[in-house]
Amino acid sequence: MLVNMRDLLADAEAGNYAVGSFSVANMEMVLGVLKAAKELQAPVILQIAEVRLKQSPLEIIGPLMVAAAESADTPVAVHFDHGKTIEKIGQALDIGFTSVMYDGSHLPLEENISMTKQVIELAKEYDASVEAEIGCVGGSEDGSEDIAINCTKPEDALRFEQEADIDALAVAIGNAHGNYKQTPKLRFDILEDVARITDTPLVLHGGTGISPEDFVRCSKTGIRKINIATATFDSVENTVRSWYNKNEIKGYYDLQAAEVDGAYQNAKKHILIFGTDGKC
Ligand code: 13P
Repeated sequence: MLVNMRDLLADAEAGNYAVGSFSVANMEMVLGVLKAAKELQAPVILQIAEVRLKQSPLEIIGPLMVAAAESADTPVAVHFDHGKTIEKIGQALDIGFTSVMYDGSHLPLEENISMTKQVIELAKEYDASVEAEIGCVGGSEDGSEDIAINCTKPEDALRFEQEADIDALAVAIGNAHGNYKQTPKLRFDILEDVARITDTPLVLHGGTGISPEDFVRCSKTGIRKINIATATFDSVENTVRSWYNKNEIKGYYDLQAAEVDGAYQNAKKHILIFGTDGKC
């Protein structure tokens, strides 16, 4: 069933775990993630970032994501990731997304807060949740930019939640989008400080390549939503390649099954690490 992200994060807060937020680019990925969610009885979030809309247009993939969530047996929130423009955020809300992110991380704090407040006003009309970001997560969602990591200042996180009624806050603690060039050393000292002085559910972007131990530690230190994108795309690609190598693809529908399986395997792996199984 389609649910508000706010409710999933409140349950995660009460149960001290993190919910996986899986980026999708097509129907096969949506089906794979929802198959894992159903099998493991796990709440999940389906998301797509604004930069990905050139490959997967919002007016096509958006209704598909919402319809898939509505027809799922398990709770599924549909989230617009790294929203950059009010226009696209509004379009996602019109389509029925239950959550949107405004990414003002590149802006001065004041401007970031003020833009996020505009998005909150808009999202209120749809009763949708809003995620914000402060500090800079490294890289960029589609790998087109090499944004330097700029860790979140705990006092900025506190000011953000005091001034804007956000539902989730993405923090930068040494995490980056895409495959890491070297194993990331997450700044748990910063995460602990942010979690101690704020009440907002925290979000970890750049999930691909973070170790299972660090995921678990994050989920025990205030992280309530973990974004996974590259790992899904890699898993789909690698599964297709391996099925071809094993001569298991005889026609288009085998190829489609391999794509669904790649997304399913990756979602399953992460749901089990995050400990979200059986949390429906
Ligand atoms: P990865 O591509 O590193 O998994 O990051 C996903 C993400 O944070 C999307 O917002």
